[in-house]
Amino acid sequence: MGLTGAAAVPAVGFATGARAATGSVRKAATDSALVFDPSAYTEQTIAITDTTGTVHSVTYRFHKVASYVADPVDAAYQSLNVSVPVAIDGAAVDASDAPVLLANAVGGYMPSSVANATGISASGMGGGTSRQALALAAGYVVVEPGARGRTLVDANGTYYGTAPAAIVDLKAAVRYLKANKGRVPGNVDRIVSSGVSAGGALSALLGASGDSPLYHPYLEEIGAADASDAVFASGDWCPITDLEHADAAYEWNWGTNPLASGASVDPAISADLKAQYTEYLAALKLRARGYGTLTARNLDTYILETFLQPSATRYLAALPDAARAAYLAAHPFITWSAGKATFTWADFLTHVGARKKNAPSFDAFDLSTPECNLFGTGTTRARHFTLYSLRHGAGDSARLDADIPARLHLMNPMHHLVDKVNPHRARHWWIRVGTKDSDTSLSVVANLATRLTELGDDVDTSYYWDAGHGADQDPGAFITWIGKVTGHRAGRG
Ligand code: DHB
Repeated sequence: MGLTGAAAVPAVGFATGARAATGSVRKAATDSALVFDPSAYTEQTIAITDTTGTVHSVTYRFHKVASYVADPVDAAYQSLNVSVPVAIDGAAVDASDAPVLLANAVGGYMPSSVANATGISASGMGGGTSRQALALAAGYVVVEPGARGRTLVDANGTYYGTAPAAIVDLKAAVRYLKANKGRVPGNVDRIVSSGVSAGGALSALLGASGDSPLYHPYLEEIGAADASDAVFASGDWCPITDLEHADAAYEWNWGTNPLASGASVDPAISADLKAQYTEYLAALKLRARGYGTLTARNLDTYILETFLQPSATRYLAALPDAARAAYLAAHPFITWSAGKATFTWADFLTHVGARKKNAPSFDAFDLSTPECNLFGTGTTRARHFTLYSLRHGAGDSARLDADIPARLHLMNPMHHLVDKVNPHRARHWWIRVGTKDSDTSLSVVANLATRLTELGDDVDTSYYWDAGHGADQDPGAFITWIGKVTGHRAGRG
């Protein structure tokens, strides 16, 4: 179905399968809701401090898109804002072919709304300059999408933001941008997604699952534009992902670490879960150069040598001599020799100290975790999504609800990279996590990065030494990386 009255630009089509099947007929008036209007914006000027401390005056057009889908469930979440730089420090900027940063602000798998924003969100976590603002000051187009999240409940008590709502919404936002190619400023073939934690998980999933038909029924249901939902690149900070294996991964990584209270987790439960990780790794069959197949026996050494020791080395090498000597004196478990840091996995775990989560960390027996809520459905707020946690309370013959396995696949980037390798995935990846982040296992990022590397993708992975959950220690480098991988010529315009 095409559009009338948009002759100069490609027509926006719509997915019609499910709709035709239910006999609903779309009206042109509804379709036009998905046409981006380049003339609808407010022009604003803000001061943006870049990562070198230089303040830039950036004039930009701020477009509010009331909804990126034709049949929103809740437009307060299914809307987006587009910020387009037109002048930086007094010099005109032409962003018509610039990369597009699609920055989701999801945290905790909670709902995320941009509906009331009156400008780009200029300050980031910790009060510094946001990733969005840095991108704008680099001349890129910035899209801030909202998305439904796990706690949304309607008047009938029905949960309407549980899995896979958030990823469906982000895909719909991508489709909206691509359907408006030529109308929306920026190069929509160079969309770079970003997100942190749950948002990092969704960004990784957006990168891994581009154009997967598994999401079609959900996209049709909300009237998403009929366009590609593949993104060019994916930036993922501390992604809380691979949820169905996260409890096992957590015990493999942090099983011997105490809780902050000083108490230990139940050793029998920890051991059960850790044993599951051996099986999972055996099934994954990840391979890494110099290590062969990664298993529960060599994964610690692999992560230590590939990510953790280089992380400590970078950290220590960047310190002034006296500060490095002081750090090494305070942390005798590190050997510093020929400009390289080495240490054992066991000493590293002791150094990290308290683990953040009890066991099981994600599919809690009492359904109290965000993830149990994420897999809620209908009027059921929270459900188990692992057999282990389900059976702990419901007995050995209990079965997961029949829809759970498919929902797990819809939420897991690894499914799109391992079980069925997606040829439409992003090929450029920026992956970051702090070495003291015990919100999930450090192997989650390692496995993701390793699998992508094995597939031949361009993967820039770094662990931030001694950093906790949500850290971003090289925000300027990400902005530079976007320019590099998208082939954008700096200063153009
Ligand atoms: C987030 C953190 C968690 O520990 C978790 O389980 C899910 C989400 C977050 O910060 O987004």
